[in-house]
Amino acid sequence: MDLRIRSIAYLAEDINGYELVDPNGHDLPRFAAGAHIAVRVAGGVWRDYSLWNDPAERRRYCVAVLREAAGEGSRQLHERVRPGDIVEVSWPRNHFPLAEDAARHLLIAGGIGITPIMAMIAELKRRRADFRLHYCTRSPEKTAFREELSLLAALGCAVFHYDGGDPAKGLDIAALLREPEPGTHLYYCGPTGLMRAAAAASAHWPDGTVHFEFFTGPAAAAPAALADDRPFIVRLARSGGTIEVAVGESIAAALARRGIAVRTSCELGYCGTCLTRYLAGEPDHRDEILRPEDRAQYLLACCARARSGELVLDL
Ligand code: FES
Repeated sequence: MDLRIRSIAYLAEDINGYELVDPNGHDLPRFAAGAHIAVRVAGGVWRDYSLWNDPAERRRYCVAVLREAAGEGSRQLHERVRPGDIVEVSWPRNHFPLAEDAARHLLIAGGIGITPIMAMIAELKRRRADFRLHYCTRSPEKTAFREELSLLAALGCAVFHYDGGDPAKGLDIAALLREPEPGTHLYYCGPTGLMRAAAAASAHWPDGTVHFEFFTGPAAAAPAALADDRPFIVRLARSGGTIEVAVGESIAAALARRGIAVRTSCELGYCGTCLTRYLAGEPDHRDEILRPEDRAQYLLACCARARSGELVLDL
């Protein structure tokens, strides 16, 4: 759908907020806390952004965008878009919903990872639910929504952790998650280091109580090429034909060369947009998000390679 940028706001150093509305003032498709939309500027790249406003609001979508030197989508929004412009927006999707049956919610946000958590907080306040936020950033100047969250901090529901760029000086995630309280659900979203630390520290939490969403950040990088990478063949089971994937090329890029579009967003192996089913062959998964049961059937076409000479894709 085409939506109009109604306003652009400064939220923190290098972080702008964008308010999107229907050009004719209609209600927008509903979303639940934790949802994201994909946004595209002037026919450029699609990028996913979490919605941070209250899901009860029907007339606007609000996203926050961190300017990243290597991020084409974020650069376009920061540099090219002005209030009044029209951008293309997908319907909301949600891979990071709140649990309905939790007695307590423990939220950990790192940097721009605060965005889905803000929508969760709006929903949890409405439910009068028991929650506590730990918000990790480098400094107060880089902390979006600081004013809004200071009231929660004063009430003891939110804690700011400024690490000055050294995670060792920030929140001790291992200590925080060491002893899960019965009925508590954990949610975390942030840069790669925080995601790894939270995943390791919550590995012993009961099944179904840990929820997370990846996003890019200064620490995110595409999986590195390995010295023994070899070209391999991709066979298309439904459309027929084979394509060679060169060293240094992704499956998604090789498919695009042949005019076969696999939708991508992060191109770094963390968002799941390029999820593709395979039918035969042995992938070399180079992402950190697929679960073992997913890996038996799916690969991420932006970063997986092959251990076998050939992979058969369900395309
Ligand atoms: S495009 Fe994000 S995981 Fe492949």
